[in-house]
Amino acid sequence: MGLKWKSDKHINIIVVIFGVLGLMAEVCNGGITSNYVRNDDLGRDMPLDSDVFRVPPGYNAPQQVHITQGDHVGKGVIVSWITPDEPGSSTVVYWAENSEVKHSAQGIILTYKYFNYTSGFIHHCTIHNLEFDTKYYYEVGIGNTTRQFWFTTPPSVGPDVPYTFGVIGDLGQTHDSNRTLTHYELNPAKGQTVLFVGDLSYADDYPFHDNARWDTWGRFVERNAAYQPWITTVGNHEIDFAPHLNETKPFKPYTNRYHVPYKAAHSTSPLWYSIKRASAYIIVLSSYSAYGKYTPQYKWLEKELPKVNRTETPWLIVIMHCPLYSSYVHHYMEGETMRVMYEKWLVEHKVDVVFSGHVHAYERSERVSNIAYNIVNGLCNPISDQSAPVYITIGDGGNLEGLVTEMTEPQPSYSAYREASFGHGIFDIKNRTHAYFSWHRNQDGYAVEADSLWFHNRYWKRFQESSVAAL
Ligand SMILES: [Fe+2]
Repeated sequence: MGLKWKSDKHINIIVVIFGVLGLMAEVCNGGITSNYVRNDDLGRDMPLDSDVFRVPPGYNAPQQVHITQGDHVGKGVIVSWITPDEPGSSTVVYWAENSEVKHSAQGIILTYKYFNYTSGFIHHCTIHNLEFDTKYYYEVGIGNTTRQFWFTTPPSVGPDVPYTFGVIGDLGQTHDSNRTLTHYELNPAKGQTVLFVGDLSYADDYPFHDNARWDTWGRFVERNAAYQPWITTVGNHEIDFAPHLNETKPFKPYTNRYHVPYKAAHSTSPLWYSIKRASAYIIVLSSYSAYGKYTPQYKWLEKELPKVNRTETPWLIVIMHCPLYSSYVHHYMEGETMRVMYEKWLVEHKVDVVFSGHVHAYERSERVSNIAYNIVNGLCNPISDQSAPVYITIGDGGNLEGLVTEMTEPQPSYSAYREASFGHGIFDIKNRTHAYFSWHRNQDGYAVEADSLWFHNRYWKRFQESSVAAL
C-alpha cells in the first residue's frame, strides 16, 4: 500500500509538473506582444480651417481628385473629382510625358442627397488603353480653374515585375491620420499604389452622418490619391445605413464617390472585385455584404479564385475590412462567420496574404488554418499550415475613435506580432518568389520598420523546395 501511495504521489507530482509546464507552454506559445504602450487619447480631428482641407482657389475648381485602376490589367484609370458650384466639364485631358499629343476622355456626372446634405457634382471618367509603365499628365476643370496632376501606369502584367504597394486602413481625418499619410508619402520604399482596407472618412461618426466630412476627407487625401491609385474596399463606416434619417440604401455616399472597375472583373457589385497589377492579383471583398452560400459575392469568389494564373500573377492578395484572425478584445471574432465561409478557399488557393483593418491596431499572424472542423470531430483549433495566408490587421491609420489597446491574454499561438500604434504597411514585391512586408509606426522615423517579414510566394515555394530537394 505504502509503495502504491508513493508511486501515486510521484505520478501526481509528475502530473502537476507537466501541468505547470503545459500552462507555461500555453502562456509562452504566442508570438510577440510589443511592450510599447502608446497613450490612448482619442484622436482629435484636424480643424476645418487646416491647410489639408483647403478648397482649391477659383470658381468651381475641381476638388477631391482621386484615381483608381480602371480596368482589369492596369491600362485603364478612373479619374474622379467634384465640382462644387455647377456641373462644369466631365472631360479629362491627358498626355504621355514624352508626347505632345493630347487626348481626352469623357466622364459622367452624379449627385446624391443624404438627409439634409446635397453633394457637389461628382465626376467619374475612365481612361482606357494607356501604355504600360508610362507617366501621364492629366487635367480636369475648365477656364481659369483647370488643375493638373500626373500618374504612372504599372508595368505590363508578368510574374517577375517588381511593384510596391502601400497598405493603409481606417484613416479618418485627425492629426494622426495626417501623420500616417505623411509617413507613407515619405517612406523611402516609395509605395506606388495604396491598398486601402476600408473605413475612409468616418463621416458617419458626426451628427446626421455629416457628408461634408466626406468632402473634407476627399480634399485631405487628394495630395496622394490624385497621383497614385487607391484600391479601396468598404468598411463598416461606409455602410451609412440610417433608417432614423430615412437613409436606407447602404453604401450610398461611398458608391457615389468611389468608382471601381468591378465589371471588368465580372462582378455584379462595386463592393467586391479584382484587379491584376504588375505581378499581383488583388481580390477585394466586402465584409458587409452577404457572403453566405448562393449569395452573389460567394458565387463570384467561387469562380474567381480558380481563375488566378499564378504563373502570370504569382502574388495573390486579398483585402477585406474585418479581419479573420485578430486577438484584440475589440471586435473579437467579428470576422468569424466570413472565416467559416471563405478560409478553406484561401488555403486551397494558396493566398499569400490577407490585409484587413477595422481593429485600430496592428497584428501579424503566423501561417495557420482552422478548417478541419466538421461539427462532430472537435478539430477546432488553428494549426500551422504552410498553404495558409499571413493575416495582417492594419486598421491603425489614425481616426477619431483612437487606438484599441486591450488584447486577449495569453497571446494566442496564431498571433506572431501585435502592437497598438498608428502606422502603415509596405508590401514590396521583388520577383515571383520573394516579397518584403514592413510595418512603419508614426512615432518612428520614416525609414524605421517596427515589424517586417520576408514573404516566400505560396505558389512558387513548392517548386523552389522541390528543386532544393533534387540537389
Ligand atoms: Fe471598421
